[in-house]
Amino acid sequence: TLLVLANAKHEEYIGWKSYYVGASTQEQVKSLIDLGDKLDLDFLSPAHTHREALVLVQPEHQEEFVKSLESLDIKYMTHTDNVKSALDQEDEVIEEWTRSSARSGFRSMPYNNYQRLDVIYAYMQDIANRFPNTVRLVTAANSFQGRPIRYLRISTTNFEDHSKPVIFIDGGIHSREWISPPTVTWAIRKLTEDVTEPDLLNNYDWILLPVVNPDGYEFTFTNTRFWRKTRSTNTHSSSSICPGVDGNRNYDFAWNTVGTSNSPCSDIYAGDRPFSEVETQVVRDILQEHLARIALYITVHSYGSMILYPWGHDGSLSHNGLGLHTVGVAMANAIDALSLPNFPRYVVGNSALVLNYRAAGAAEDYAHSIGVPLAYTYELPGLSWGNQGFHLDPRYIEQVCRETWAGFVVGARRAAELF
Ligand code: ARG
Ligand code: ZN
Repeated sequence: TLLVLANAKHEEYIGWKSYYVGASTQEQVKSLIDLGDKLDLDFLSPAHTHREALVLVQPEHQEEFVKSLESLDIKYMTHTDNVKSALDQEDEVIEEWTRSSARSGFRSMPYNNYQRLDVIYAYMQDIANRFPNTVRLVTAANSFQGRPIRYLRISTTNFEDHSKPVIFIDGGIHSREWISPPTVTWAIRKLTEDVTEPDLLNNYDWILLPVVNPDGYEFTFTNTRFWRKTRSTNTHSSSSICPGVDGNRNYDFAWNTVGTSNSPCSDIYAGDRPFSEVETQVVRDILQEHLARIALYITVHSYGSMILYPWGHDGSLSHNGLGLHTVGVAMANAIDALSLPNFPRYVVGNSALVLNYRAAGAAEDYAHSIGVPLAYTYELPGLSWGNQGFHLDPRYIEQVCRETWAGFVVGARRAAELF
């Protein structure tokens, strides 16, 4: 019956609760990480920093979780008493919005809600049709499950004459980070439908890839809201029980040396070899093909309000550390200038130092290691004590897109000076 069908969704979250936790000393941070391993906690925002984190706790572990926090003197607050019903409610809101936007016949990409893959691809196709002189839609490959992985190339001259620096931005490698893809489609909009910075359009060629991991992305809508990895099952024996590889541990840089797992069931499973995933191969091939002129590469994630740069596997600085930091701070200032009072200010720094954990095989490290001078991970805004939703409330999508674009603008302009 209908009721059973409706309830079948999100059933893996029956009885789960979510909590805000705020570790304030280094020791508390460490204890929280250990507790995370012991109780199999699912952190939806960086657990390892001194900012508050949001964490999902399964029913069996809630009592011990709360007890442990109290004995460690770590402050916490219940965020959602019933994760499943919060997700169900969110679905209803999404469905209503989808219905009403269908009614009003949206042609352009709506930013009042998160969009399914078909809407994003329809938008990219529409832009390619409307701007045939500057835009080309490319299908780079098919995902593990056979969905196209698509990006737009934007150039006011001829992309093929290789005359300008390239800016490459990707999103959606971690599928549950829903705020990432819209910031990339917003960049498409700002370079086609609504150009307010003509220098950016004229002085660079652009590659914009909103959804690196379409299988995971769709799976977060149809099945498991907090799915992070790809959905591949071919690379490992236990993969039919635990599909998927963490795309951001699968790049060939210090691969699987730190901050990764060999267990296919882990959310940070590195895969059985570097670039085992077609999704990361696509990003690799774009980077390699245009390496000589990629001035700036940004991979967009959430949450944390952070701009991160190499090296994330060991916390050391690259030969271009000063340039990375200077441009990072300039981008963060531009974003903060447009931010809302209830959003945290951006933090800029080396990935491993800011996150307080090391992780090898990530995209920005790989890009920098092969020679991209400016390579960053953006962690978009997501949370702050009590005043935002279970994930970033859809009412903030447009705000985040606008402010993030300001960061891209400054990064692009500064990249030209250094290039
Ligand atoms: N949240 C991202 C992740 O854990 C951050 C990656 C930062 N980059 C790095 N090289 N560790 O995948
Ligand atoms: Zn991520």
